Amino acid sequence: MADTARLQIGDQSVELPIVEGSEDEKALDISALRSETGHITLDQGYGNTGSWQSGITFIDGDKGILRYRGYGIEDLSEHSNFIETSYLLIWGELPTAAQLEEFSDLLTKHQMLREGLKHHFNLFPPNSPPMAVLSSVLNALSCYYPELLEIEDDEMFTEAAARIMAKVRTIAAYSYRQQLGHHIEYPHPNKKYAENFLHLMFSQPYNEFQPEPELVKALDLIFLLHADHEQNCSTSTVRMVGSSEANLFSSVAAGVCALWGPLHGGANIAVVDMLEKIREENLSVSSFVDQVKNKKAGIRLMGFGHRVYKNFDPRATIIKKSCEEVLAKLDIDDPLLDIAKELETVALEDEYFIQRKLYPNVDFYSGVILRALGIPKAMFTVIFAIGRMPGWIAQWYEESKATKISRPRQIYTGPVLRTYQPVEERP
Ligand code: ACO
Repeated sequence: MADTARLQIGDQSVELPIVEGSEDEKALDISALRSETGHITLDQGYGNTGSWQSGITFIDGDKGILRYRGYGIEDLSEHSNFIETSYLLIWGELPTAAQLEEFSDLLTKHQMLREGLKHHFNLFPPNSPPMAVLSSVLNALSCYYPELLEIEDDEMFTEAAARIMAKVRTIAAYSYRQQLGHHIEYPHPNKKYAENFLHLMFSQPYNEFQPEPELVKALDLIFLLHADHEQNCSTSTVRMVGSSEANLFSSVAAGVCALWGPLHGGANIAVVDMLEKIREENLSVSSFVDQVKNKKAGIRLMGFGHRVYKNFDPRATIIKKSCEEVLAKLDIDDPLLDIAKELETVALEDEYFIQRKLYPNVDFYSGVILRALGIPKAMFTVIFAIGRMPGWIAQWYEESKATKISRPRQIYTGPVLRTYQPVEERP
């Protein structure tokens, strides 16, 4: 196997080292290309650009493989839980029983918000988008923990990471209650992570929310399945912001903003909107698929397609199974699930989707399951953000060991040099 590649530009020949990852992925190292040849590479949307070497998450999009720190997503989904998996992502190894207990205790210790911070919620107008509130309040955490703005060692990182992991759930639930004008519920000291989130969302002073264990398990699974996904749009944003040595709170707040868009985390809302539209307008699945294929109206089959997976998204397979189990167990008959299944069947047999290798992604079924949990649509992407938090934290810390600020270049296509004209002389 060659360890260099040769690039010919006119008369000039350059050798590019080949970098190989632990799973045989190969990259051409072009870091000296501009200084040696005056050329840069152009890759809009970064489909062929490896921005980092990372030891956190491995995806093989052609084979439908996803692994966190070497462990298969199927294995973790079946045997682990969100908090243990978060530990794995952040610190690289599965915890011992003592480490897991220590981490859980730390999360319990840090789950409350400072009373002052709670006032921020009242300043947002009614019906503020929860993703905006989440991102703002996460950023505001940096005002409350000035001692953690510069992380000097693992201990400080652990403090900051645990504070964010613990508080993001509280902030997310508060953003929902603020929308409703409801009182703010305190986190419960004895409830586990996912159950505590449901308590924060739905308990009333006179009525503590007691969810079915299946629902708690399904929510925990949703968090786990979203926990990391290598260099996607929001994670790259977190790393990019972190590369300027911006603090962890502000960097993950930026991640929330990137996740918000409908082509990324917001797709789970768009999927349910699409399923509702099909139902309300009494559209047949095949006529909707025809609209997608004809592209005129710019309609996409939301929850289908992925930049990396050109095969089944393994998370979608797991979430679909969980969705069916939860709905059956709770005896919920959701017509949107039937429409989703029919859409999947029709699309997977259609040449348009086959040719383009478009398969259901994680968002295709997550909305249906979140509806069954009683989570309002506006909170779907917030749930994704809670799940993705350990991944962002791990990726930020890995990036913080690097010394270079991220600063891509561009090919300029605007006007060439021109001279300023006073306004009265302009045509
Ligand atoms: N429905 C219909 N056509 C699609 C879809 C879709 N969901 N996704 C891609 N295509 C088509 C494109 O129109 C294009 O067709 P063309 O070759 O005729 O021009 C081709 O497939 C390639 O599409 P790109 O947009 O170039 O693929 P890209 O990798 O840039 O986009 C993305 C990936 C953004 C996820 C896209 O598939 C999409 O918009 N999907 C719907 C939104 C969605 O579900 N997002 C969630 C992604 S998972 C996540 O973030 C957690």
